[in-house]
Amino acid sequence: MENVTVASAEASVEDTVPSESALQVEVKLDKDVEQEQSEASLSKRQRKKLLKMEKWEASKKEKRRKEKEKRKAKRVEAIQLGLPVRTGPSRKELKRREIVYEPESPEVVVDLSFDTIMIDKDVAKCVKQLLRVYTANRRAEKPLPLHFTGIRPGGAVEKHLVRNDGYLQWPVRFSSEHFMQLFEPKKLIYLTSESDNVVDALERNHIYVIGGLVDHNQHKGHCHRLAEEFGIRHARLPLGEHVILKTRTVLTINQVFEILLNINAGKDWQKTLLDVMPARKGATAKQTKTDVSDPQQNDMKIVSKD
Ligand SMILES: C[S@@+](CC[C@H](N)C(=O)[O-])C[C@H]1O[C@@H](n2cnc3c(N)ncnc32)[C@H](O)[C@@H]1O
Repeated sequence: MENVTVASAEASVEDTVPSESALQVEVKLDKDVEQEQSEASLSKRQRKKLLKMEKWEASKKEKRRKEKEKRKAKRVEAIQLGLPVRTGPSRKELKRREIVYEPESPEVVVDLSFDTIMIDKDVAKCVKQLLRVYTANRRAEKPLPLHFTGIRPGGAVEKHLVRNDGYLQWPVRFSSEHFMQLFEPKKLIYLTSESDNVVDALERNHIYVIGGLVDHNQHKGHCHRLAEEFGIRHARLPLGEHVILKTRTVLTINQVFEILLNINAGKDWQKTLLDVMPARKGATAKQTKTDVSDPQQNDMKIVSKD
C-alpha cells in the first residue's frame, strides 16, 4: 500500500514538473514560434535576404568541410608517395610561437575607414583580405608590426571582423582611431597606385599605409587624394619597373602586404612580384637596369620621385 502511495506521489511530481528534455523541447518550440513570428513580420525582400544569408552560411560550412577532406586526402597521398607532408609550421605551432619584430622595423597600417563607401559584399571581401594579411604575417620569417585602424564601432568592417572567432587575439593592433591620430605624419607613407613616387625599399621606422578599400576601381584615386589632403608622403609599388602586366596595376590589400613582407625579408622585386601576383594578371619578367636583390643595397634606398 505504501509503495503504491510513493509511486503515485512520484507520478504526480513527474506530471507537474516537466523533465529537462521536455523543457528543452518546449524552449525549442518557443524559439521556433518566435522565429516564425519574426520571419512572418519581415518584408518579402528581407525574407529573401535572410534566406540567402542562411544558404550562404550553410554553403560556407560545406565548402570548409570539403576543403578539409581535400587537405586530408592530399596528405594521405603524399605520405603514400613518401613525399614531405608539410611545407611550414603547423597551425598549433604558429599559435604558440611568439611573434618577434626586428628593432626599428617598418610597420604597416591597413586604413579601414572606408566602410561607408563600400557595399556590404565588398566589406566582406576586404575583411577576407585582412585575414590573409594576418595569416601571411604570422607565417613570415620577418613579420611586420601590423595595425588595423579606423574601425568604426558597430560599423560594417567590425561586423564582418567579429565573424572570425578570436580575432582580437590576432597579433594585430586594432584601433577605432584614424591612423593620422596614431602616428607622426612625417613617418607615414600612403601606398597608392596613382602616386608619381616609387617605393624602392622599405624605410626603417616608417609606417606604410594600405587602403582597406575594395571598390573595383569605382573610387579611383581616392587614397591618393586623401594622402595629398593629409599632407603625407605617398608612393606606388614598382610594378611596371620589374614586370610586364596584361591588366591594370591596382592590387588587393593582401597582395600589397605580401609584397612588403618579401621585400622586407630581402627578396628581390622581380621574383616577389612574379610570386605574389596572380597568374591571371599575366605578369612576365622585364629586363631591369639594376639588381636590387641585395638587402644591404635595399636598406639604403628611399622612396624616390619619378
Ligand atoms: C584595391 S586597392 C584600392 C584602390 C582604391 N581605388 C584607392 O583609391 O586606393 C587597395 C589598396 O592597395 C594598395 N595598392 C594597390 N595597388 C597598389 C600599387 N600598385 N602600388 C601601391 N599601392 C597599391 C593601396 O593602398 C590601395 O588603397
